[in-house]
Amino acid sequence: MSFLRILMTGWAVLSTAVLCPVSSCTPDPGPAPVTPGKQDQDNKDNDEGGQQPGPGEPQQPEATGGKTLVVWYSFTGNSKSIANALRSHIAADAFEVQPAEEGLDYAANNYAIGSSLIAAIRKDPSSASSYPAIKDVDPALDGYDTVIIVTPLWWSQMAAPMQSFLFKYGSKMAGKTIGLIVTSASSGISEVEKDAKRLVPQGKFLSESLWIRSSQVGSAASLTAAWYDRMFKPQNEPSSMKVTVTAGGKTFTADIEDSETGKAFLAKLPMTLEMSELNGNEKYCYGVSLPRSDKSYDTIVPGDLMLYSGDCIVLFYGAAGGYSYTRIGKLTDVSSLASSLGKGSVSVKFEKQ
Ligand SMILES: Cc1cc2nc3c(=O)[nH]c(=O)nc-3n(C[C@H](O)[C@H](O)[C@H](O)COP(=O)(O)O)c2cc1C
Repeated sequence: MSFLRILMTGWAVLSTAVLCPVSSCTPDPGPAPVTPGKQDQDNKDNDEGGQQPGPGEPQQPEATGGKTLVVWYSFTGNSKSIANALRSHIAADAFEVQPAEEGLDYAANNYAIGSSLIAAIRKDPSSASSYPAIKDVDPALDGYDTVIIVTPLWWSQMAAPMQSFLFKYGSKMAGKTIGLIVTSASSGISEVEKDAKRLVPQGKFLSESLWIRSSQVGSAASLTAAWYDRMFKPQNEPSSMKVTVTAGGKTFTADIEDSETGKAFLAKLPMTLEMSELNGNEKYCYGVSLPRSDKSYDTIVPGDLMLYSGDCIVLFYGAAGGYSYTRIGKLTDVSSLASSLGKGSVSVKFEKQ
């Protein structure tokens, strides 16, 4: 119990820091901090049982070969958004795990209900009575080769209702390919991975789980697509890191970085951006969120394709420097780039080769 207390205190301090609104001078605040009550309302407004891709998501997912089921549980809506984002990229059915008792606020009174549910499971993980009841809906697992679990983290463990689901159905997942996607505010997910393996002992787990922090949920589509492609694309299928960039009737080739940012960019293609003019040396477009790892660039050269502030794509056609960016890639031949981009706003199409 004292261990739980330490965890609770530690995360409560963290959660205050992470979930409180960030200051307005932060250049990239990401999605709004999660307020459970509000998010629940948003879910209701947009609720189709979590079975439909969200607005603006691609509608024609790739076929995956075997049949895939995405099983998700969500208290404040993040796992639901992640499950929907993944399902916009792949052909998969979805199953929502729902607590039998509706309307519980697991976060109320300093997370009292959530933490006592986790404490009960920790105390006796082998007893069915340690797990909170879930709605008795059969997920018909026999029809699926692959199950992707999307769950929040609670006090470093897998959220209690998802643990209930896996305690009940884990043995029916023997021999199936199991993927794990975990969302937390800040805590690492290694204990959740252990929970999954304890509850699905015969599952064939993918080599990497995907961790999406609450602040990254806005990028869930690119993060889940990049993870899924990494896990499921045949090893011998070369994945091109080259893209074609078309502007002003001319086409250019860009080499994309072999990085988290580069892969997330590729996962969004094809994409046409209406890019604005700045300083006579760059075209830019906000609204494309990608993972960032900024560093300061003293020298920028024509053809540099950069990410600014985590959600702004910048294509340089003249020299610059002195700001922080994350490199997305680089155009290989820039001889007529400036004239093709022109002096004002321009439509630029990016496609995979
Ligand atoms: C009961 C409870 C306990 C939580 N414990 C942690 C924690 O220990 N560490 C952490 O980083 N986040 C913790 N969180 C935050 C959630 O993991 C995070 O907000 C997640 O994105 C929520 O996913 P959901 O919207 O699908 O419910 C906790 C949330 C709840 C409700």
